[in-house]
Amino acid sequence: MAAVDKSSATIRTAVLSDIDRIAAIEREVMSPAIYPAFFFRQALSIFGDGFLVAMLNGRPCGYLIIGQHNGDASIAEIYSVAVSSESRGAGLGRALLDAAFVWAKSRDVKTITLTVSPENAPAIGLYKSIGFREIERDEDYYGPGEARYILTAVV
Ligand SMILES: CC(C)(COP(=O)(O)OP(=O)(O)OC[C@H]1O[C@@H](n2cnc3c(N)ncnc32)[C@H](O)[C@@H]1OP(=O)(O)O)[C@@H](O)C(=O)NCCC(=O)NCCS
Repeated sequence: MAAVDKSSATIRTAVLSDIDRIAAIEREVMSPAIYPAFFFRQALSIFGDGFLVAMLNGRPCGYLIIGQHNGDASIAEIYSVAVSSESRGAGLGRALLDAAFVWAKSRDVKTITLTVSPENAPAIGLYKSIGFREIERDEDYYGPGEARYILTAVV
């Protein structure tokens, strides 16, 4: 794995010119890709500044999407978070989650929820280290025999 210079990492709101790169990260890390490129284009308008990008050496290397629930704005959900393989283990995932909590606090969100596969040890490790706790296991969520955990954290 190439060395990653953490000092040059920053988190900012996504812009149109990030979309191709973010869609490429999605294709690289999610197999099969969960979201098509067009979803990310739409997410710019839907999620606004809840669509965050981790920049490393001037290049998008990860992203996170968070939005408030319809009907209960005290709950926000993280819809996706991913970091490109060559930039992992350098704190970008944690920095994206920290930025999501800052985003949530500024909107008076009280609880953040997300969904994760029980097999996804790196993501579960990250979420638990930040304070997320499992509240439910939902069988067949991703397809037959593919469960999800629902995790929640207090903001
Ligand atoms: C989950 C993911 C975003 C983590 O990104 P990252 O930039 O490598 O994470 P960080 O470097 O910030 O690591 C933060 C913490 O995550 C946990 N973690 C990271 N990699 C881990 C691994 N391989 N095994 C167990 N825990 C791990 C650790 O608690 C770590 O804290 P530490 O560095 O203090 O030990 C990244 O692995 C990823 O993109 N995975 C593929 C996409 C995905 O599964 N997204 C989540 C869908 S729910």
